[in-house]
This record gives sequence, structure tokens and C-alpha cells, in this order.
Amino acid sequence: MLVLAWPLSKGQVILHRELNARWLIVMKLFTVGPVACRPEVLEEMKRQMFSHRSEEYRELHRETVRRLREFLETKNKVFLFPSSGSGVMEGTVRNCVERKMLCCINGAFGKRYAEVGESNGKIVERLEPELGKPTTPELLDEKLSSAPDVEAVAITYNETSVGLLNPLPELAKVVKEHGKFLFVDAVSAMGGVELKVDKWKIDVCFASSQKCFGIPPGLAVASLSEGTLERSERARNKGWYFDFKLYEKYQERESSTHMTPPISQILALNKELELIDAEGGKQKRFEFYSERMRRIKEGIEALDLALFPERRYESPTVACVNAPEGISGPEVYERMRERGFELAKGYGKLKERTFRIGNMGYIRLEDVDEMLQVLGEVLG
Ligand SMILES: Cc1ncc(COP(=O)(O)O)c(C=O)c1O
Repeated sequence: MLVLAWPLSKGQVILHRELNARWLIVMKLFTVGPVACRPEVLEEMKRQMFSHRSEEYRELHRETVRRLREFLETKNKVFLFPSSGSGVMEGTVRNCVERKMLCCINGAFGKRYAEVGESNGKIVERLEPELGKPTTPELLDEKLSSAPDVEAVAITYNETSVGLLNPLPELAKVVKEHGKFLFVDAVSAMGGVELKVDKWKIDVCFASSQKCFGIPPGLAVASLSEGTLERSERARNKGWYFDFKLYEKYQERESSTHMTPPISQILALNKELELIDAEGGKQKRFEFYSERMRRIKEGIEALDLALFPERRYESPTVACVNAPEGISGPEVYERMRERGFELAKGYGKLKERTFRIGNMGYIRLEDVDEMLQVLGEVLG
């Protein structure tokens, strides 16, 4: 795994003199996006450009979409967006919500969804359990019973800011019992955690390239149900860039997008999906992610540290760790950086109290062991 390089400050020059690199040092990334990418994926991105109206591109587009549909176990249409995940988030609001939506909030990204809704002129109902606790089916059922006029429910599958995984299959069931539209922010889940779009009846399921797929940022992907496209057809003032019907039109007509897509990122994603298949398929991939997180958690426990979220709901892709007595989260982060490991700082309200260890992208098991050893030393 690797690689982050940047100009050294004076202190770091001394610390890393032994690396014999005056201006660059190499970091091992345990970030939560952008994350480290596999060498084969980076290699693929070196390919010479071609036009997004060429047959080469059309083939690439078709193949990537086909692989994604299989990965997500969906018959829904899947689209490639030249934006980060937040672009699709805004797209869901503009294409599918006329007046009112419900946002389930478990941290910073659920909050973002609500802000995106309001900034697009929608009325937003909020369901916000105490920080660190999941949205439960009971809470959701109660909320929807008292707000029957919401048109859609937005759920963050994996809340990256607090390291919490919501019980999505159960929540999706409640949403459908109430006959509502379901948007799933799977930004830090897709690619590392099981996602069954059709079985769970998800209308829009989206993610960014720079998380569990381990691709550089700049590409988002989403599956859109038939109902989503029907709503988009009727929507007024939905804008142009994220008009879902235009994505459908260009994909159907010429296996492309209505603007210039990030071709290098699409090449990279296609490569990553090909490698996942070659390595035994998505189930193997999820097992690897799960094994890596098991090691991280065991190491954390061995250091007498605890995770922030309620037990049973800890994220499989990001460990949000309570900083121990006497040292703040940002200090742990800085000390690890000095030793060549880039973790992630705590986020929002948890900035001082926690630090996070990403389990996404190109990280080998031996890197985990090394990182835990160093964590023990810096806390020592
Ligand atoms: C759960 C979640 N949702 C949304 C986002 C926003 O995604 P992007 O930065 O790709 O727009 C993030 C980014 O970290 C995230 O973790």
C-alpha cells in the first residue's frame, strides 16, 4: 500500500532523514477517502486518452456498467456520474422530491443530506438518534407514521463520521411498508460491504469512487429504479447536470454521458471490478474487508481502546476510536503521521474525542499489523 507525498516541514526532514528523501516521504494510508489505490489500478489510469464519443469509450462504459450491475445485484439501470458522491445526493433531491423528504441522521453525512434537501427548497423532516446510535426500524416506523406526507427517505448506510453501520435491510423494509421512496447513501459502504439493491428495494443507491472501490476521486456511481426515472421525467426545475433522464438518454443512445466523463477514473473502476472478479468475486472481497476489520478491532482492544458507536453497529469500513485519557484525537493523528501512517481525524462533534482508522482501498494485512504496532508505541 502507499502513497502520499508532500513537501516536508523542517521537523519532518529530521524525522525522516533515514528515508533519504529530501522532499518526499511515503505514507501508509488508513484514510477514509481518498484512499490508497492498487498499483494495477494506478497503472490503468496512465492510459492515453480517447474521446468519450468513440467506440473505445462506449465499450468501456458498457463493460463498467455491466460489472457494477452484477456487483450490486440489480436489474435497475446503473449510471456513472462525473462528480463526487454529493453530486448524486443533490440529484436525488432534485429529480425525486417535490416537496418533502425525511433524512435519517447519524452524523455529519446524514446532516449533509438534510442541508442538500433544504438548500434545494425542500421541506426536510429529521430523524436523529443520539450520536453513536443507529436508526432503528422502530424509530423509523414511528417517525413515518407521524409524517405520512414525506415522499422519500434518505438513509446513510455507513455513517463515516462516527463509524456506524445502520441496519439497512430492516430499515428498507419499513420504508417500503410505508410506500416511500428510498435513497441510500452507500458512499463508504459500496465495494466493501454487501449491498443488495433489488432485494432491499432501494430506489437510488449511490457511492463515490474514492472509498471502498479504491479509485481516485472524481467519479460517482448510482443505481436508479424505474420509479426514480419516472419521477425524474415529471420533475420540474431539476437542472441539467444531474438530470437523471439525460443520463438515461445518453447511456441508452450512445453508451456515454451528456458531458465529458472522468475517463481515467472509469478505466480504474473497470479494472478494479475485473480484479475483484478474478480474485473470486465480491463475496471474497467482503470477506477480506471483514478480516481486515477484525484485525483492526482486535488490535484496538488489545491496546485497551474502545470504539465510539454502540456495539453491534460498528462500521466494517471505518473504526472510530475513542482517544485514550490524556491525549486528544488530533494528537494521535499527528503522532501517527510523524511515524508514516495517515489515519483520519475525528469528524465534527467528535473531532477532539476520537480518531478514525479507515479500512478501505489498498491495505495489506501486514500493513494493519505494522500500523497497530506503531499505534501502541505512540500511545505507549
Ligand atoms: C457517508 C458519506 N456520504 C457522503 C459523502 C460525501 O461524498 P463525496 O465527498 O464523494 O461527495 C461522504 C464523504 O466522505 C461520506 O462518507
